[in-house]
Amino acid sequence: MECRVFLLSDRAGESKPVISELKKRFFVTERSLRSTQIDNVSNFPVLIVDIDLNNDQAVGRFQKFCKVTKADGVPKVFVVEKAAQLSRIKLNDEDSTQTVSRPLAFNDLFEAIVRASPAFERDRLLEPKPCLEASQNSFLTLSALARVVRAEKKISKRHIDQDAIDICRAVATGSTLDWLTAVNNHHSYTFRHTLHVAGLMLAFAEHLGFTDRDKVRVVRGALMHDVGKAKIPTDVLDGDGPLSFKDQALIFQHPTFGLEILMNDGGWDPVTQKMVYQHHELLDGSGYPKKLSGDAISDPVRMLTIIDIFADCVDRRAGTEPVDPDTAIKKLFSMTGKVDMDFVRAFEPVALKVMEDINTFRAAA
Ligand SMILES: [Fe+2]
Ligand SMILES: [Fe+2]
Repeated sequence: MECRVFLLSDRAGESKPVISELKKRFFVTERSLRSTQIDNVSNFPVLIVDIDLNNDQAVGRFQKFCKVTKADGVPKVFVVEKAAQLSRIKLNDEDSTQTVSRPLAFNDLFEAIVRASPAFERDRLLEPKPCLEASQNSFLTLSALARVVRAEKKISKRHIDQDAIDICRAVATGSTLDWLTAVNNHHSYTFRHTLHVAGLMLAFAEHLGFTDRDKVRVVRGALMHDVGKAKIPTDVLDGDGPLSFKDQALIFQHPTFGLEILMNDGGWDPVTQKMVYQHHELLDGSGYPKKLSGDAISDPVRMLTIIDIFADCVDRRAGTEPVDPDTAIKKLFSMTGKVDMDFVRAFEPVALKVMEDINTFRAAA
């Protein structure tokens, strides 16, 4: 089911409560009218435009935005003071254009969105989806995390903890499938991967009978596990095509970068530290960065390594084709001596169940 919307705004602050309501039903990609980021909006079912139509500069910027982002044919919802303001904009497709008036009310906006685009099934969108909301909040936290790490500022542990708790709550209300489906809306492989790993970690911890406190603890570790990648340029991380030797060597350093980030930040618990630093170690000592082996690798790390490999195999990284879950599980079973086989056997039904649900969902959609 389609649930993505693109929001272009130069006054999102004024509409904050409405937008947070929107995020319970839709996956919202938010952009400021002043942003220099160039998105492709043509594959979004709807574009919500919340800009000052009395301002000539804003109108000019909007026309330019439509051109460069291929937004011309996309159904639009304008948030306006007066409907007459719309005449200031040249629209190619007036039939699929809707307006809502200020002061903005969530119900008006919701109804205008479903009227604007045939891609939406109104009744299926009515129910708020905790997983969708939690995934968007986690995505924002991960983006902020990457920014503060690059600026060498303090990490907000409170936000990471809150996200770990929210993910556990949201998945308890919905399901792991809801979580993974919500996460699949993210276009960045790196963030999507982290959120996939967090959801699969929660499902695995649940299957193993972890307490609520321990579930939050391992989900927090999963959210942080690739934090060291914030030190690596995004075009190296999310680029397609084969990596150069130099870029590959840089990526191999991310567990070390991650531990350095946690140590400089201070106050991080040993479980998170190990999950960040050791998740690419293998039981036979062939992993990295320290070539640890056997008992030197703790249980949460062993769980994370398995999930990390599985999540990487089944996701669609730019330039690579994902493999099916059976093949991913077979790959784990072929790693005898490298990963913990008791954990692989325990993880198999969890992973296959989740992936079967996803495939059923995709087939029905
Ligand atoms: Fe990693
Ligand atoms: Fe990872």
